[in-house]
Amino acid sequence: MSKSIEIKGTLPGSKSKEIAERRAKYVADAVGKNSLSPCYIAKGEGALVIDVDGNQLIDFTGGWGCLTVGHAPKRVVNAIKDQADKYLHADFSAVPYESFVELAERLAVLAPGRTPKKVALFNSGAEAVENAVKLSRMHTGRDAIVVFENAFHGRTLLTMTMTHKVKPYKYKCGPFAPEVYRLPYPSPYQPTIGIEDFERDMIGRLDPEEIAAVVVEPIQGEGGFRVPQEGFLEKLRDLTEKYGIMFVVDEVQTGMGRTGKLFAIEHWDIEPDLITVAKSLAAGMPLSAVIGKKEIMDSPIEGAIGGTYVGNPVCCRAAIEVLNIIEEENLLERAKDIGKKIRGRLDEMKEKYELIGDVRGIGAMLAIEFVKDRETKEPATEEASAIVKDCMENGVAIASAGIYGNVIRFLISLAITDEQLEEGLDVLDNAIARVVK
Ligand SMILES: Cc1ncc(COP(=O)(O)O)c(C=O)c1O
Repeated sequence: MSKSIEIKGTLPGSKSKEIAERRAKYVADAVGKNSLSPCYIAKGEGALVIDVDGNQLIDFTGGWGCLTVGHAPKRVVNAIKDQADKYLHADFSAVPYESFVELAERLAVLAPGRTPKKVALFNSGAEAVENAVKLSRMHTGRDAIVVFENAFHGRTLLTMTMTHKVKPYKYKCGPFAPEVYRLPYPSPYQPTIGIEDFERDMIGRLDPEEIAAVVVEPIQGEGGFRVPQEGFLEKLRDLTEKYGIMFVVDEVQTGMGRTGKLFAIEHWDIEPDLITVAKSLAAGMPLSAVIGKKEIMDSPIEGAIGGTYVGNPVCCRAAIEVLNIIEEENLLERAKDIGKKIRGRLDEMKEKYELIGDVRGIGAMLAIEFVKDRETKEPATEEASAIVKDCMENGVAIASAGIYGNVIRFLISLAITDEQLEEGLDVLDNAIARVVK
C-alpha cells in the first residue's frame, strides 16, 4: 500500500521557514504566532496538504472544521470560477442575485422540523451567533441570554462573552457584554448537574420570563467535543417552550454532515427555533447562516440585520455545490462509516493507554480526552500537546480542544480515503505510545 505522507528531511522545510520569518516580522502575533502546522500550504486535495517544500501531509483538522467536503473539491472550485467570471459582489440588498435565494431555499427546506423556515446569510460563525441573539431579542422583547460552561461561540464582543474559556479568548478583553448567564452543560463524562435539577438551577439564577434565548452547541466543539447527557437537550427544548424562550442551536462546528446528519440536532429529533451554521457550509469560503422559524426571522424591522458582504455570490455558489456533494456523494453515510472506523481504533488505543480517559462523539465528530488518572480525571494537558506535536512532526495535523487543552479531536474531511485514515491513525497511535513512554 503506497503511503500518503511524504516528508523530505525534517519539518518545516526551508521555504516554510523563510515564510515564517516574514510572518514573525509582519503578522500580528495574536492571530496565531505559531500555527498548528509549521508548514505552509501550497496545495490541498481531499484530506491531503502539499506544502511549499513539497512535503505531503494528512490533514485531520479540515481547516478547523471547514472542510467536510475536503480541500478544494473540483465541483466547488468550478462553481467559484464560473461565478468569479460573472460578478464578485453586488450586495444582495442593492442588486439581488438568485444564488442567495437558492441557498436560502435549500437550507430552509433541509432544516429539521415542520414549521416553515427562513434564512439570513452572514460571513462568519460569530456573526451568525450574534444575529441569532439579535433576532431572539427582537422577537421576544427580552434581554437575557443563557449559555453553557465550556461553550465556544466566537470572538466578537458578544460572542466572546458567550464563550467560556478565558485564555486566550477573553483575556484582558473586558468589560464584557451584559445579560449573558452561564449554566452547567451536563455530559456523561462530566455530569456537573442532574438534568432534573437544571430548571431549579436556572430559575434560581434568573427570571425565565426575562430570557430571550438559550444558545447551545448540540455537541460542544472547542469545549472538547462534549456530548450532552441523555435527555439534556430535550429538557432544554421543553423548558424553552414552557417559558417562551428562543431555543438557538449553534451548529457552526457540528453542522453540515460531520455527525452523520446534516444538522447534529437531528440526532435528538428536536426542532430548534433558530440554527446557526458556518465553517463547512461553503467548503471554507466565508459564509454563515441563521436558519429559523419564519415568524422569528421576520420579526426585525427591515435593515436591522445584514451587512455589506453577507451572502457573497461566490460563497453562495460554493455552498450550493457543497450541499450537492453531500447529497449526491452520500457523505452522511460516509461520516457514519468513517466514525465507526475511527472509533474502533480509538477504543483499541484506550485499551492500550491508561492516558486515555474517554473516547466520545457522534459520527465522524470524535475525540479522545487525555487524563493523568482515570479516577480523578485530572487533565493531561502537556501530554495532549506533546501528542499533537509528535503527530505534526510525523506528517499529521490534528487539533486539540477543551478548556484544559487535554482533548484531541477529529475534524476530518469526509473526502479522506480509508488508507489515508488508517495511515493517520497509525501516526496518532505511535505518537501516544512515544509520549506515554
Ligand atoms: C460552535 C461555534 N460557534 C461559533 C464559532 C465562531 O465561528 P467563527 O470563527 O467563524 O466566527 C465557532 C468557531 O469555532 C464554533 O465552533
